[in-house]
Amino acid sequence: MLVNKNYIKRHKMGFVYFHWINAICFFMLFLTALPLYTDTFRFLYDVFGAETLQNAHRVFAVIFVLNPIVGLVTANDGVCRLFREVLSFGHDDIVFNQKFPAELIGKEPKGIPPQSFYNGGEKMNIALQTGLWALLVISGAVLWLGAGHIDNSIRAWMIPLHSICAGFGMAAAIGHIYLAIGVNPDSFHGMRDGTVKASYAQKHHGKWVDELVAEGKVTREEIKQAAKK
Ligand code: HEM
Repeated sequence: MLVNKNYIKRHKMGFVYFHWINAICFFMLFLTALPLYTDTFRFLYDVFGAETLQNAHRVFAVIFVLNPIVGLVTANDGVCRLFREVLSFGHDDIVFNQKFPAELIGKEPKGIPPQSFYNGGEKMNIALQTGLWALLVISGAVLWLGAGHIDNSIRAWMIPLHSICAGFGMAAAIGHIYLAIGVNPDSFHGMRDGTVKASYAQKHHGKWVDELVAEGKVTREEIKQAAKK
């Protein structure tokens, strides 16, 4: 059944919280480390103190590590779906990724195949963010806890690895935010109360809507009526 005759339930609230805690931690980790890289952000040390920022970095790091573990309990289906979707990457996702970039320059590309719960680009984003998360956590843990246990020559390599992952993560996050807010603002609704417009779901995630219809969760008639609004 549609919510308010117009919206489809897409994400459980547990998953929405999981997403936002991850996003806030990522930005805070980036911000609290920035003065180490550029004097432009040196003022953060002057305002908060270097030790406070270093401690804040560690606190957010712990939350960044624990969040997916807690998410596996509180938002199990949403978190597991991320992995299932990446593993289902196939031909339709490749075609999507070839054709979608034209939308970014204002064109309406033809022949994009219906997409599943996540589209080909989102699946790549999930794979990239998961890989970067793992590398950030491993390199961060070696730098933080490895002193005296792990050879210094290995620990030295963790500094560029940690920095490169943070850089790629931020570049991907900026692209992701632009796509979510600038290109597909309807998707952002899903990260507010967990629902998206039926018309948006039909247009961008046709295979997922087919699944919902097959499972009897919505009817074609409801989707048709919602699309008229
Ligand atoms: C202001 C910041 C952000 C906004 C507005 C935003 C928005 C969104 C939205 C709307 C979705 C749901 C897409 C859908 O239902 O199809 C989503 C999913 C997701 N977000 Fe974010 N997000 C933000 C920050 C971040 C950050 C910092 C990360 C990672 C470090 C991240 C990682 C993800 C991932 C992996 C997904 C699932 C796949 C995808 O949609 O790409 N997000 N985000």
